[in-house]
Amino acid sequence: MADVITSVSNPAKQFLSHKVSHFTESVIREMTRQAMLYGAVNLAQGFPDFAAPAEIKAAARAAIESDVNQYAITWGAKSLRHAIARQMGVWQGIEVDPEKNVTVCCGSTEAMISTLLAVCNAGDEVVIFEPFYENYGPDSVLSGAKSKFVKLRPPVSEGGEWTFDEKELRAAFDKNTKAVIVNTPNNPTGKVFTRAELELIRDLCVEFDVLAITDEIYEHILYDGTTHISMASLEGMRERTVTINGMSKTYSVTGWRVGWAVAPEKITNAIRKVHDFLTVGAPAPLQEAGAVALSLPAEYYARLAEGYRVRRDHLIPALERAGFTCFLPRGAYYVMTDISAFGFEDDVAFTKYLVKEIGVAAVPGSSFYRDARDGARQVRFAFCKKRETLNAAAEKLGRLSRG
Ligand SMILES: Cc1ncc(COP(=O)(O)O)c(C=O)c1O
Repeated sequence: MADVITSVSNPAKQFLSHKVSHFTESVIREMTRQAMLYGAVNLAQGFPDFAAPAEIKAAARAAIESDVNQYAITWGAKSLRHAIARQMGVWQGIEVDPEKNVTVCCGSTEAMISTLLAVCNAGDEVVIFEPFYENYGPDSVLSGAKSKFVKLRPPVSEGGEWTFDEKELRAAFDKNTKAVIVNTPNNPTGKVFTRAELELIRDLCVEFDVLAITDEIYEHILYDGTTHISMASLEGMRERTVTINGMSKTYSVTGWRVGWAVAPEKITNAIRKVHDFLTVGAPAPLQEAGAVALSLPAEYYARLAEGYRVRRDHLIPALERAGFTCFLPRGAYYVMTDISAFGFEDDVAFTKYLVKEIGVAAVPGSSFYRDARDGARQVRFAFCKKRETLNAAAEKLGRLSRG
């Protein structure tokens, strides 16, 4: 009997999907585990280590106390959908019908995969700017689509911007292109796409009949006078854009898992079906707290951005003193750096050394590229951390020596 239980029936089968066999573990989340293992300061994963706003925590407690403890409407609690629609009107001048255009999901992560599953067929192509937030690659695979990458090139001079080549972007679009994913403000580069750049992408979407899926989760984290422009606010894009956003970054609640997709009615209907079968719904009491969060006054957002500006301007000089070349982010809460000065073989060897011997966890640049060689000289640091955490990291980074 024991033989039967322990024997592998058909080794070729292995019970695993071909899709999953191509996935690697999330490098970002692995770095968090390594930070815990070595007791290192975690500047790897993008979660704040400080408190969420008191009002929204009180709202979550109140919702649980008043027994908002059962399934919400599968596509989202009415109060939150109405708040989302109102906010998109206020911030971007986009008219949204909360009954027809909004799907609340378990984080923007689920909003993205539900959207891709709802719109992609096998053989469709999805254009992705790289370096890219690492979920987009596996998301495309899960949805049966093929990813096509367009390079964002680092600034060539101090204080310059990440740019892309118009011809390279155009070459990525063809008759099989179903969607382009645009993440602005961008993780990991901190790039905030300009109106001119978005219009260029818009023109290609119209010409090739392509959907834009925009990840705008860092919408309110902007520096140096930059402004966030939603793709859906551009003329001709309302009917061909899915706007993805969530509570994680704006309200410092990455563990609550509340996000949403805003899309034209037909696409919303498809996203809602996928979402329903995937997760049924996002946490009901936290959606109620979300409605309160989205009603915070405008000063809240100004303070949020200024708090991160101060953190950015605190960490970057420490990184530069330690020997990193920093690419100044204009939004989001990460800084991409160049590690050439340290003489390591590659980014992975460097981040291993950094977490184990220096005591700071960061993310190897290669995890943001399809071809690891493109990120071999880059490392990303997150600065969504308390002053003490950044100080502790700065002190440790001071022990690094250049190669
Ligand atoms: C660009 C981007 N999109 C989505 C997410 C995940 O968002 P959520 O917590 O809403 O799933 C992250 C988290 O780091 C991110 O950087």
